[in-house]
Amino acid sequence: MTTPLRLGIAGLGTVGAGVVKIVRQKAALLTERTGREITVVAVCARHRERDRGVPLTDYAWEDDPVALATRDDVDVFVELMGGSDGPAKAATEAALDAGKDVVTANKAMLAHHGQALAERAEARGAVLRFEAAVAGGIPVIKALTEGLAGNEITRVMGVMNGTCNYILTRMETGGLTYREAFDEADGLGYLEADPELDVGGIDAGHKLSLLAAIAYGTQVAFDAVELEGIGKVSIDDIRQAADMGYKIKLLGVSRMTGRGLEQRMAPCLVPATSPLGQLDGGTNMVVIEGDQVGQIVMRGAGAGEGPTASAVMGDVMDLARGFRMSTFGQAAASLRPATPARSATPAPYYLRMALMDKPGALAKVATALGEAGISINRMRQYAHTDDAAPVLIVTHRTTRAALDSAIAAMRATGVVAGEPVALRIENV
Ligand code: HSE
Repeated sequence: MTTPLRLGIAGLGTVGAGVVKIVRQKAALLTERTGREITVVAVCARHRERDRGVPLTDYAWEDDPVALATRDDVDVFVELMGGSDGPAKAATEAALDAGKDVVTANKAMLAHHGQALAERAEARGAVLRFEAAVAGGIPVIKALTEGLAGNEITRVMGVMNGTCNYILTRMETGGLTYREAFDEADGLGYLEADPELDVGGIDAGHKLSLLAAIAYGTQVAFDAVELEGIGKVSIDDIRQAADMGYKIKLLGVSRMTGRGLEQRMAPCLVPATSPLGQLDGGTNMVVIEGDQVGQIVMRGAGAGEGPTASAVMGDVMDLARGFRMSTFGQAAASLRPATPARSATPAPYYLRMALMDKPGALAKVATALGEAGISINRMRQYAHTDDAAPVLIVTHRTTRAALDSAIAAMRATGVVAGEPVALRIENV
């Protein structure tokens, strides 16, 4: 009989407690599938006395995550504390230095230190895996590193923050303002302790940068992700985009181009009938395009106890089976530095503006677009309410630079009230 695989778990929040429950309640299944018993030997969290809905008395308790990570009887350090630096990073580094394998759900730590940690793991012959860090229960890291490994990946897209998708969905279906939908999500406990991580697109940007590293064989480049949150999305945009056949999503897109790596996490329009357009509520979706496989769509819960613990267990069970994959699917030393593309691939754009009721106003807007080389695909003007009327324009493919120069020219004509809104349309 082989020896058990012994886990030390740091962080006993929702996910940590979920992992302990799976190990306790599904012991026979785990052993049957891996050929090895999986046990928890020690745990660590900030508050020892808290009831987590699972008995912990069988396990040694450590107050210090570094002490837990380096215990002689721990084979795999399971890091579920979170935070890009501080105790999570210190304990992960200590575990790797001690030659222990690490399984983590920590997207922030990997987005900021992924390359250094991957190199550190390899230098010690240890494995560092992070399926639970991206899109919760969706096994997207396994899909990219294993099932799709024979493809050149051409584009990776995803709605990877369930809280933002919930807020945008409630604005659309409930007619709520951004603030009302935000407060509702807060009341349901969806928001991170620092809500900006969610609504500022940072959490989803972390995830996108990790997928891009695997997809394109580049070093994680979170700092190069173009980030824009959902705070400026208005109910008018949601309604009027719907009127033109689109939904607004906080969508991450990465692609490798001749000009370098594009990584963008920003609100954009997708066709309402596309799989991404039909993704409602707190669910996640990842879309991967490969030169051989075509398009793959994966949909599922991006957070929560069961789904995230499921992803952690997938990594733990790989280790129990003796399967040892590099952190980003190839040797850390072979990951190339990512050269960020300085401009985005041209795309159609949605433009919304309030146009004053003056003869020739619309012609001036059309001229500004025409002079910037931008062709109009579709246009709609709603009836004037006060002294301005909402005008929606969908352009043909253009660059953001051309669009910005057209917007500046439109504003200079004096016929546009306020700031026009411009959102990219992603063809999916
Ligand atoms: N806060 C994230 C979300 C889950 O709303 O999807 C953790 O990354």
